[in-house]
Amino acid sequence: MQRFSRLVEDMIHPGVKFGKGVRLGLGVIIEEGCEIGNDCMITHYVVMRPRVKLGDRCVVAPMTFFEGDTVVGNDVRVGPQSHLTRGMVIEDGVFIGLTLSTSNDMTAGRGHKDELKAPIIKKGARIGGNVTLLPGVVVGEYSLVGAHALVTRDVPPYALVCGVPARVVRYLDDESMMEKYEESIRGKGYETDRS
Ligand SMILES: CC(C)(COP(=O)(O)OP(=O)(O)OC[C@H]1O[C@@H](n2cnc3c(N)ncnc32)[C@H](O)[C@@H]1OP(=O)(O)O)[C@@H](O)C(=O)NCCC(=O)NCCS
Repeated sequence: MQRFSRLVEDMIHPGVKFGKGVRLGLGVIIEEGCEIGNDCMITHYVVMRPRVKLGDRCVVAPMTFFEGDTVVGNDVRVGPQSHLTRGMVIEDGVFIGLTLSTSNDMTAGRGHKDELKAPIIKKGARIGGNVTLLPGVVVGEYSLVGAHALVTRDVPPYALVCGVPARVVRYLDDESMMEKYEESIRGKGYETDRS
């Protein structure tokens, strides 16, 4: 048996920076250059490849995989079994449901490294379960992506999009609802016994 990496022994790279009050589940792997903000909760079997930066009060549900070089804002919640491709930007207050699939290579393995383009998820956007984001799409501020959508084009701010391929169904123009949403997620994490 040959060891793939020292990480088999050292699941958390010694150079990883942790804020105050961070909680880690079982089997978490965090590689070099990662930074985890205050009061984050990273639950069981989450993997973070190099240079993932999480803001404050983020919650990452079990078995989510970060491919690396990703910047995540504050108060972001990532559902279980999500794949976050290399180079993503996820802004403050984003909610990602279960099993998000993202990719950064439109050629599916035939392109050049400098052509890779990861999705960007803007402030306050919400993504339903089992959504796929194709390379380079921008999910607009406070938009909502319905469950099982295949997002092939940018999602406008405040839009509700659904379907395969995803299309705008209507606009969510209720500002007070958005404020409520921000309030509801601010500072909230999973209870320890539900992780
Ligand atoms: C899209 C969504 C927000 C509902 O929006 P809504 O406007 O309240 O929709 P309604 O339930 O009134 O349904 C309206 C129509 O859209 C259809 N629809 C609802 N959700 C849909 C979806 N995700 N994709 C495609 N069509 C959908 C309904 O079947 C209905 O069609 P019909 O008029 O032909 O019967 C919701 O269905 C959804 O997908 N939420 C995300 C849930 C989720 O994944 N949460 C994350 C859990 S971790």
